[in-house]
Amino acid sequence: MSDSSEEARSGAAGTGTVAHNARVWNYWLGGKDYYDVDQAVGDHVTGVYPAIGEVARADRRFLGRVVRFLTEEAGVRQFLDIGTGLPTAENTHEVAQRHAPEARVVYVDNDPTVLAHARALLTSAPEGATAYADADAHHPDTILEAASKTLRFDRPVGVILLGILNFVLDTDEARGIVRRLMSAVPPGSYLVLSHPTQELGGEGNADAMAFWNENAEPPITARSRAEIESFTEGLELLSPGIVSCSAWRPEGEQDAEVAQFGLVARKP
Ligand SMILES: C[S@@+](CC[C@H](N)C(=O)[O-])C[C@H]1O[C@@H](n2cnc3c(N)ncnc32)[C@H](O)[C@@H]1O
Repeated sequence: MSDSSEEARSGAAGTGTVAHNARVWNYWLGGKDYYDVDQAVGDHVTGVYPAIGEVARADRRFLGRVVRFLTEEAGVRQFLDIGTGLPTAENTHEVAQRHAPEARVVYVDNDPTVLAHARALLTSAPEGATAYADADAHHPDTILEAASKTLRFDRPVGVILLGILNFVLDTDEARGIVRRLMSAVPPGSYLVLSHPTQELGGEGNADAMAFWNENAEPPITARSRAEIESFTEGLELLSPGIVSCSAWRPEGEQDAEVAQFGLVARKP
């Protein structure tokens, strides 16, 4: 781990005895903020499901393309990024503020290691703002309350849920969370979602998830296209619809298809 991770280790950021998703994801992305146990689980998953690193990288590139689209083409200036993950390259505010320095971003995660590193997410351009809320996706009202200190809910918001609803195991609850979040933002707001699936192949994907659920936290689930589409009820799905996140409006050379759906939908 980096120096700041040492700080995390000695603080309230967990003991590193059980692999956690934020740190393993950071490992797959080539970061340095993980413990030995995260590396061991990450390596085992890669052995079972070699495409997992590509899934993580494709997911981050999807985030970059969508945030650029929302700031440059859709005029969105506010973002609520839930399940942020550990700071890495091209975080949401960096992409958004490159085009719109006045953009305001609230990051939300419930992992103590992410909290310990959150100051790296709080490097806003002076014209804009960034904030971090240590909160749980299972409690959208708490998230909205915290976000209201930085975002105005009478102006469009990009609600970003990348790789997070897969940790809300009950589909009705996950649907309710999306519905609650989108009910708080005005027309012209957007939902951005990515979610693992078994429907796009991915040799070893199911075995890797089973291993994860026996050896790491929090437990994960894949979902079908139909289940993921149900999260967009009442919203307008933008083209190209629900596709492998690598195929969502690719720029330049397209990444290989990954078993992770991505979508963007607009609140009418
Ligand atoms: C797969 S990572 C995705 C990170 C980032 N969104 C991305 O796409 O690169 C999932 C993140 O969700 C966070 N997470 C998992 N369950 C959560 C919950 N119930 N509430 C808030 N965050 C959660 C994890 O800590 C982790 O940082």
